[in-house]
Amino acid sequence: TGRCVVAVDGPSGSGKSTVSRRLASQIDARYLDTGAMYRAITWAVLRSGVDPQDQGAVAKVAGEIELQIGVDPQTPHISADGVAVDREIRGPEVTAAVSAVSAVPAVRELLVTRQREIIAEAGRIVVEGRDIGSVVAPDADLKVYLTASADARAQRRSTEYAVDLLVTAADLARRDKFDSTRAADPLTQAADAVVLDTTELGIDEVVTQLRTLLDGRV
Ligand code: C5P
Repeated sequence: TGRCVVAVDGPSGSGKSTVSRRLASQIDARYLDTGAMYRAITWAVLRSGVDPQDQGAVAKVAGEIELQIGVDPQTPHISADGVAVDREIRGPEVTAAVSAVSAVPAVRELLVTRQREIIAEAGRIVVEGRDIGSVVAPDADLKVYLTASADARAQRRSTEYAVDLLVTAADLARRDKFDSTRAADPLTQAADAVVLDTTELGIDEVVTQLRTLLDGRV
């Protein structure tokens, strides 16, 4: 059980979180949800009454907030300034504002630095996000890019977050477009990433495929 970094990128609803957590548990690795970090900063921005579009003010909040991150795949956890925000960061207010906050270069710089520290300390870790294989951990042992049809992704997110399907589909389309076209570290498929379409695949099938890939590499 030596050093092993797995980067899992892809759009919302592609199955990243479930797959990443399960894989991490099975290979006895830590698990980092970088989306939760962007969401926690967004929570702090909203709490402080700052306009998410005001990049300078957003950067200031991000620089002052203290994040505590738990990387156990069974019980991932995040606190902001000592407040557990695991539930709040999944709410509609944070979800609506997170793309704007995560497009701020100063926010990304801060979080990417922190993510690299967590990865270095863990040694053995599955990291999920949008820019892990391309920016955060370009030297990862395995890079995975998960996709699924827009319908399948909206279905999954709608069930997971208990939100109306049409609202979810519209929100996903908006965030995907924003996340893929922003200037700073857009959602991209790293050239050396293994692409898996999970539309017709069960979670366990995906995890099994990833373990087979890993066995050949580490
Ligand atoms: O994965 P999740 O849907 O929780 O991510 C929330 C948002 O955080 C994404 O829509 C994206 O704007 C941002 N994000 C990012 N880079 C990452 C992870 C998430 O910009 N590595």
